[in-house]
Amino acid sequence: MKKTIRDISIKDKLVIVRCDFNVPIDEGGRIADETRIVGALPTIRYLIEGGARIILMSHMGRPDGEVDMKYTLRPVAKSLSAHLGQEVRFVSSPAVVDDAVRAAAAKLAPGEAMLLENLRFRKEETKNGAAFAKELAELADLWVNDAFGTAHRAHASTAGIAAYLPAVSGFLIEKEVQFLGDAVENPRRPFVAILGGAKVGDKIPVIENLLNKVDSLLIGGGMAYTFFKARGYEIGASILDEKHVEMAASLEKAAKEKGVELLLPTDVKAAVAFENDAEAAFFGADAIPSDRMGLDIGPKTIALFEEKIRSAGTVVWNGPMGVFEMPNFAAGTKAVALALAASDAVSVIGGGDSAAAVEQFGCGAEMSHISTGGGASLEFLEGKVLPGIAAIEDK
Ligand code: 3PG
Repeated sequence: MKKTIRDISIKDKLVIVRCDFNVPIDEGGRIADETRIVGALPTIRYLIEGGARIILMSHMGRPDGEVDMKYTLRPVAKSLSAHLGQEVRFVSSPAVVDDAVRAAAAKLAPGEAMLLENLRFRKEETKNGAAFAKELAELADLWVNDAFGTAHRAHASTAGIAAYLPAVSGFLIEKEVQFLGDAVENPRRPFVAILGGAKVGDKIPVIENLLNKVDSLLIGGGMAYTFFKARGYEIGASILDEKHVEMAASLEKAAKEKGVELLLPTDVKAAVAFENDAEAAFFGADAIPSDRMGLDIGPKTIALFEEKIRSAGTVVWNGPMGVFEMPNFAAGTKAVALALAASDAVSVIGGGDSAAAVEQFGCGAEMSHISTGGGASLEFLEGKVLPGIAAIEDK
């Protein structure tokens, strides 16, 4: 168990909080999705109410150590101020920490909050530079990590800083670890994992780890075609990860040996081109014509996956079942989202595309937990120790 902000005195303390405010910004400079900001609010509110003096920090995008105002955190300060109903002062410094920032931090009254500029304007951030970690640490009395989405990175603000300050977690990391951890280690059974998305390579370590935990593993999306190929099916012009065909075969074998039910789609919707309006029809998974590409799972597969979801105790879902950004190939992903929304299972949604899909189909509120971490939730499901979590003190 990791220490949280409940386990430490915060009153009048200068508390530096690492959040993941890496949110999408549209062409007008507006925040396109505030999920990560909303996810950070319980911790910030607790610190405000507890009389802490709060310094918030985050990265945005990958400016690679350059000051690029396309990635300024100014819109985040505005959004935070609106959500909290009090000003979160944005102290913009290209150096992230400088005398003006130090002075502003020292002047914070209990319950006041400020936000630093994008940490990745300093190249030392992603290199976990000790001097930069120390500069950040010297602003405060205590470090709170609440950046689950960045917990898989060993950076100055997510890990290195813990060498200089007491280190506890915020409520978002606590909640993510509880849901993802319980789902994997202590699931209500049957435990079903649904994996999709285009790249098999990205998911291999997750599959390897989950084969030791789940009762059923349902595979859809672009990665299914590499498994079809491994079975010797004709996949036409569907996406193939040639390098991982053998691995797909050995994962199927491993599933059999472990007594895990590994289900691949039995039918697919295949089109003549990668376009929403391309002519498309349903085919058996082993009968895709050579000039077609599979872009979604078919109705028989949908019925099969819905049935598995209905009878599950726990479902972990990561990766779409098809090209759901195109309405004509969204049916499989939508059906999985709706089946999860209707089921009594504990439903844990990995971040990234599956989180976006669940929101797109209007069923976010029905899920037990939607992770704010894309890469981080995947690495968690792989069974890896995340550096941002390891850096937090044990109870
Ligand atoms: C994410 O969006 O996955 C996190 O904010 C981490 O960002 P990164 O992949 O640029 O480190």
